[in-house]
Amino acid sequence: MSKIATLEIGGKKYELPVITGTENEVAIDIAALRGATNGVITIDPGFKNTGSCESAITFLDGEEGILRYRGYAIEDLAEKASFLEVAYLLIFGELPTKEQLEKFHTDIKIESQVDEDIKKILDGFPKSAHPMGVLSSLTSALVAFNPSSVNVESPEDMYKAIVKILGKFPVLTAWAYRKRAGLPLDYGDDSLTYVENFLQMMFKKPNGSYKVNPVVADALDKLLILHADHEQNCSTSTVRMVGSSHVGLFASLSAGISALWGPLHGGANQAVIEMLEAIREDGGDTHRYMAKAKDKDDPFRLMGFGHRVYKNFDPRAKIIKKSADQVLEALGIQDEVLDIAKGLEKEALEDSYFVDRKLYPNVDFYSGIIYRALGIPEEMFTAMFALGRLPGWIAQWREMRLRKEPIGRPRQVYVGETHRPFVNIEKR
Ligand code: SDX
Repeated sequence: MSKIATLEIGGKKYELPVITGTENEVAIDIAALRGATNGVITIDPGFKNTGSCESAITFLDGEEGILRYRGYAIEDLAEKASFLEVAYLLIFGELPTKEQLEKFHTDIKIESQVDEDIKKILDGFPKSAHPMGVLSSLTSALVAFNPSSVNVESPEDMYKAIVKILGKFPVLTAWAYRKRAGLPLDYGDDSLTYVENFLQMMFKKPNGSYKVNPVVADALDKLLILHADHEQNCSTSTVRMVGSSHVGLFASLSAGISALWGPLHGGANQAVIEMLEAIREDGGDTHRYMAKAKDKDDPFRLMGFGHRVYKNFDPRAKIIKKSADQVLEALGIQDEVLDIAKGLEKEALEDSYFVDRKLYPNVDFYSGIIYRALGIPEEMFTAMFALGRLPGWIAQWREMRLRKEPIGRPRQVYVGETHRPFVNIEKR
């Protein structure tokens, strides 16, 4: 592959450098384009063809359905690693030794207290508040209680901010659930694993003990690993963009939580279950919903289907689909919504509209079925996605800061009114 791209504009030729990544992805570096061409820029709504950065964290190949974190296949990590191991890998670049992992978990546990005054902010929300709005607010509020988390010029300060949010975010997530359920806000038990502790914080009843079901803990650990990072998706790009102004980690994460909330992104897992339940209420008539999904005049989309990058099966969806069967069987749960999902998937994969557009089930299509089997309510599904994505957001934010990336500030092509004289109100 040539190291130079030649662009011809207005009869003049310009040479632009070409870079090639370690997985042989090729990009034209246009950093000098505007200066060399006296103002010409590129435009690419949704950035479907535009890279925002070089990154060493996650590689995915949408055509082959490959996903790797720091070079390790998602299939291996989901099968053999714990969520905290994967968090360490994503953030620091290597799988931890036993000692490193123990110290990481200890440092996180030390920081897992949340200032009691945060409860006053939570009290101000109505029970009906969506957990993603609560989490975005409380994550931003954490800055006020942890001012040192903003200026992270030193590696020590950055590490401290990282273990603080990894310790406090599961507490805030559990509290967001317990607020809606009318339960007292609970802390977990430091003797438990990261995921077991979260489950206890979520489900321990005030008048009883909570025994972690290993099937539930293992399934949740795997789900969190599968959601942990996904290169420059909408919410991660938001975290990097907001972080590029040096506002600090917690405020950047708060912005990422808001971006993930959208139904086209992380909010899809809740929308999938709502769609499947609507189909069930409708007598299981998947054909009607397939027709709606294909009707250009109907805004309905088959939620959990399609992906900006994967034009093949989302490898995470494959693992989650298999895990859904295993979890429901292990817990002795019959969920007819799973059968509807499988029927819908089969129908879509045989339908030319979906096949021609390479629309396959994505990570959100089956995840809600497992969350539901684990006793997690629908309005918490996207919050679970955020809990899983937290280490990825942190890793990407840390990489952006360590690489000293410039503040993000895209250009535009102006298509509005050209200069015109002001008209006094009497004459309008
Ligand atoms: C996530 O980016 C990531 O990595 C995200 C994520 C992560 O881990 O961070 O993987 C998590 O967000 C997964 C996606 C969850 N969202 C959904 O399941 C919502 C439903 N999916 C769609 O809205 C859509 O597929 C997107 C948003 C996911 C991708 O949209 P694109 O890449 O912008 O594609 P597009 O809208 O240009 O669609 C191309 C064509 C269009 O039809 P034509 O105009 O060519 O005729 O495919 C159609 C679309 O109408 N299409 C769908 C569809 N998805 C795309 N038609 C029906 N149902 C769908 N789900």
